[in-house]
Amino acid sequence: MHKTYAIPQYVLDEIEQHAKDVERYLSGQLSSDLFKARRVPRGIYEQRQHGLYMVRVRVAGGFLWSSQAKKLAELSRRYANGRVHVTTRQDIQLHEVKIEDTYPIMKGLLEVGLTPLGGGGNTVRNITACSHGGLLPGEVFDPQPYAVALTNYLLPFQSSYNLPRKFKIAFSGCATDCSLAQVNDLGFLAKIRNGQKGFAVYVGGGMGTRSRVAELFKDFIPVEDLLRVAEAVKRVFLRYGDRRNPHRARLRFVVERLGVDNFLHELEQELLKVTAEGIPNAVPVELAAEPLPPAAPPADVHIDGDAFEKWRKIAVRPQRQEGFFLATVLIQRGDLAADDLQRLAEAAERHAGSQLRTDRLQNLLIPYIPAAHLASLYHELQNLSQNVTVPHHGESLLVSCKGAATCRLGICRSQDLNAAISQEALKAGLDRSVFSEIEIHTSGCPNNCGQHAIAPLGFFGAARRKNGRSYPCYTIVAGGQAGKDGATLSQNLAELPAKHIPAFTVELLKDYANSQLRPQGFLAYWEQRGRALALELTGKYSVIPAPEEAPDFYRDFGTEEDFSLAGRGPGECGAGIFELIAQELKKAEAEFLDAKQLVKETSERAQKLLHAVVLAAGALLVTRGIEPGNPDVALKEFERHFIDQGLADKKHLELLLLARSALRGKAQLLLDEEARIRALLDEVQALYDSMDAALNFPVKLKDQAEQKTCTFNKPPELNLRGVKCPMNFVRAKIALEQLEEGQVLEVILDEGEPINNVPASFRSQGQEVISITPEDADSYRVKIRRVK
Ligand code: HEM
Ligand code: SF4
Repeated sequence: MHKTYAIPQYVLDEIEQHAKDVERYLSGQLSSDLFKARRVPRGIYEQRQHGLYMVRVRVAGGFLWSSQAKKLAELSRRYANGRVHVTTRQDIQLHEVKIEDTYPIMKGLLEVGLTPLGGGGNTVRNITACSHGGLLPGEVFDPQPYAVALTNYLLPFQSSYNLPRKFKIAFSGCATDCSLAQVNDLGFLAKIRNGQKGFAVYVGGGMGTRSRVAELFKDFIPVEDLLRVAEAVKRVFLRYGDRRNPHRARLRFVVERLGVDNFLHELEQELLKVTAEGIPNAVPVELAAEPLPPAAPPADVHIDGDAFEKWRKIAVRPQRQEGFFLATVLIQRGDLAADDLQRLAEAAERHAGSQLRTDRLQNLLIPYIPAAHLASLYHELQNLSQNVTVPHHGESLLVSCKGAATCRLGICRSQDLNAAISQEALKAGLDRSVFSEIEIHTSGCPNNCGQHAIAPLGFFGAARRKNGRSYPCYTIVAGGQAGKDGATLSQNLAELPAKHIPAFTVELLKDYANSQLRPQGFLAYWEQRGRALALELTGKYSVIPAPEEAPDFYRDFGTEEDFSLAGRGPGECGAGIFELIAQELKKAEAEFLDAKQLVKETSERAQKLLHAVVLAAGALLVTRGIEPGNPDVALKEFERHFIDQGLADKKHLELLLLARSALRGKAQLLLDEEARIRALLDEVQALYDSMDAALNFPVKLKDQAEQKTCTFNKPPELNLRGVKCPMNFVRAKIALEQLEEGQVLEVILDEGEPINNVPASFRSQGQEVISITPEDADSYRVKIRRVK
């Protein structure tokens, strides 16, 4: 059986632990929070559809044997929805899986040397590499064997699954940087110096709500140093990553916090230590030095010669290896039927080298096709249920994350937007070959899973409000690229309602298609002409009709339901929700500032002050699953959820009362209330700033100072029976902080909230929860080891 990366004992143990966790979760012994904290690093996310899960399988360096692909197809048919999804980081996902089927899937994957461990959470994620590594002329050298060597090195360590935040590593075979090494946490660009193979090393890049191009750490390291450099970067991340704030935890924030020079200095120091420890030289893992020969002779097939030639032109490239070809299987938005994956794998066995590659643009590649087999392979590809031999509507470069249709964090349905763009292109008679010249990336929220941050043209979803109703909206971004001259992040251009995006895009692309600048490529066009035109177009397309006139504007693509964020979150992270709140707060500030300018215009001034109050009061309600349909509701619900809960000061009650009267026509009541309105805005902003990733607000612990003076004298055990959340956590935390690193604290916690919350909170702070065992009928003993 062909394998790619090695599965270490740690992963095998985790898989067995997963079986137990699923059982305990299903029988109610394991809280859903605790279960989530364990399953996400195992690559299992809950989908938007409650009770259905996604399993993300690591495909190191994008290398997949046909036998592995067939197993994925089989597992999808048996336990998932009969489809697979190729991701922008070269993973393969199974969707709509029941939780009890995740263990059989993990076991099935093990048979072919695959695992979802590290597919999610704060882990070393799939290590990516150029999908055509080792196959095409022009590269410096094939980085894939090093991506696999590093995977094999990192997967056995427990710390690789318990980092401050996710850790993404990428390898590119030359400066074109197809794998985006310059926008990953750690990136390697292949280089040769004085005849020696090596890498330029980039650190602290990444995409997300605040994308960043990486810093160059080393202009050149010999390939042998690979593991030591990666280990040093990982350790600096472990030491400095901010576990308290998941929104500032990625390595790029460490760079920002320490400053580039200090950060690089830390890395140098760490590298010296690591080198002294004797970590071995990296040895490349050659997966297929000699290609397997096709299992069948070329078939005598009847094919349409013109179509075949067209396919060869679009999708087939000659390999570096004389006489072999590499074919791209063009998959729409990365979604493929499992049966089709099975057929592809079989075709790769019969007519090529029994390998597949996953690529960043969500397509699959089939390498090692001998010239005499090209027609037979083409013929077999024709038998798939999806057309993979011609870019449908030319859209080989339309990339999209799964979006709100399945993702719990999603705001907009990004895949459906892509489909709408293709339809619009078809309707408008656009020369669709432009889609194979420009990468267009769409993400359903600012998280960037569709990689819009590096897109020449892209969109990311947001929610906006008008007339008290939410509507789907996208920010247009453009100008991004990674390549020889370094990486450039795309820039935000403007926002448009989702329903206008297809027409906007097609109008822009039509201009590009007919432009004299087209031979120079989209980025040159964008600089010289496109941006100005796009700005002009956004003016034309920004109009949002009232809900009564055009209810469709208040629905997303691909659904008949009215658009709403209510009920979304708390999820694995609420970045989209953060952004929505920030937007509302910005509007509230703007109204307030406008009002201050209007000294004389009393009625308009009063209206603006009222808007500011209503916007501020309503801004945070989304965290409670409420979408205030009208201003009155916003005021009332703010009182109920924030003032009554002791999160916001009672002093705002008077202002809320005045605002309610103002809504009933007495707006002038607010004219003298600037100071109180300012205080409300400040308090809501402060609450927002203190909000954690689970969309909770810290309770102000008045007696915390008192607690700090208690001495526990390094207690081995702390009885917290009867102590409520979150005081139990605080007391346990203080006790743990008095221990040395590596020492263990045992705490007794009541069942219910305490046992659900406290261990999970320790885990999320990076401490190690070793075990949770029943102590008696209604309490548990939890062992926690101090990690830092
Ligand atoms: C804190 C929340 C999240 C952030 C900040 C985030 C960010 C990102 C970024 C920046 C990428 C870009 C690809 C790259 O790095 O090259 C990515 C990839 C991806 N994300 Fe997320 N993401 C989040 C949560 C999720 C969730 C909840 C899902 C769905 C369950 C998801 C699905 C994906 C997928 C399918 C990819 C493709 C790459 C892969 O195989 O790793 N993401 N994410
Ligand atoms: S970008 Fe947003 S919507 Fe898309 S997969 Fe990531 S978290 Fe989900």
